[in-house]
Amino acid sequence: MEEKVKSSLFSAVQPSGAVTIGNYIGAIRNFARLQDEYNCIYAVADLHAITVKQEPAALRRNTLELMALFLACGIDPKKCILFVQSHVSAHCELSWVLNTIAYPGELSRMTQFKDKSAKHAENVNMGLMDYPVLMAADILLYQAALVPVGADQKQHLELTRDLAIRFNNRFGQTFTVPEGYILKDSGARIMSLADPSRKMSKSDENPNGFVTMGEDRDSILRKFKRAVTDSDSEIRYDPEAKPGVSNLLTIYHAFTGKSLADCEREFAGKGYGDFKAAVGETVADALAPIQAEKARLLADKAYVNSVMNEGASAAFRLARKTLSKVYRKVGFYSGE
Ligand code: TRP
Repeated sequence: MEEKVKSSLFSAVQPSGAVTIGNYIGAIRNFARLQDEYNCIYAVADLHAITVKQEPAALRRNTLELMALFLACGIDPKKCILFVQSHVSAHCELSWVLNTIAYPGELSRMTQFKDKSAKHAENVNMGLMDYPVLMAADILLYQAALVPVGADQKQHLELTRDLAIRFNNRFGQTFTVPEGYILKDSGARIMSLADPSRKMSKSDENPNGFVTMGEDRDSILRKFKRAVTDSDSEIRYDPEAKPGVSNLLTIYHAFTGKSLADCEREFAGKGYGDFKAAVGETVADALAPIQAEKARLLADKAYVNSVMNEGASAAFRLARKTLSKVYRKVGFYSGE
């Protein structure tokens, strides 16, 4: 029987602090689901994180914590490559070469660059502008065919494709041109509990708007109890007319695996109080085993370190192949 060659898939998450249940539903938990079907390569994107100010000790801690969270969420280092971006120098090396075919015009037009420049007006640095080129290097180094990304990273993936095509046209076929991978439930955008017109974000100044993966049970229950709903009392999925209730139904659906229609049916005739308590309980129950596993892993730092070190070696072996090819194509003298 012919063995089907698996496509490669790359994604990364920045270690920039707490991870919300929105990040979990939208990205991280899907990473584990993809690992049987694809050659998955997942990174902790610390090089990206420093494009905004980070406290060094916190960055170090957050990197270890995110690695432990990946593992606690079921990413299996025997099936995927899991590593820390700064451990593989090829990311910086390839981004330098890609910089020479990227235009300041296209980078300064990126929506995220404009948003972040406005938000961090005191620190608009070259790294912030170059962020998408580094992201392109991440993806192209592994010849990834697929990249699961949310809506906010789609423009960066487009740029990655443009750079890959531009390089291939100028120097000959070198890079796989990646496609976005639409995740199951990617439509399930998790909104703030305090203001359901906004995406759930850990940088929300109102902590009642978000729930993090590390949050304790009482706090989770309290935040869901306070979640914004509306003035009628019908539990119905209708994001336009009932954004708060729909967000809670989406969260319930995401954590139980029940269809939205079944979720609606389950709460038909019930009051908002019972509904919100049930969603809170479900989330707290779902997070408990992940939190326990993460704590266990953090108590065994040697193991987590060994996973990231082996991941970096495996990533380097793949990255090196692409980087050598690129260096040859652009005309660097090899000395061999
Ligand atoms: N920029 C991505 C984010 O913040 C993280 C990231 C870095 C990434 N490199 C990547 C995502 C490559 C996909 C592919 O969400």
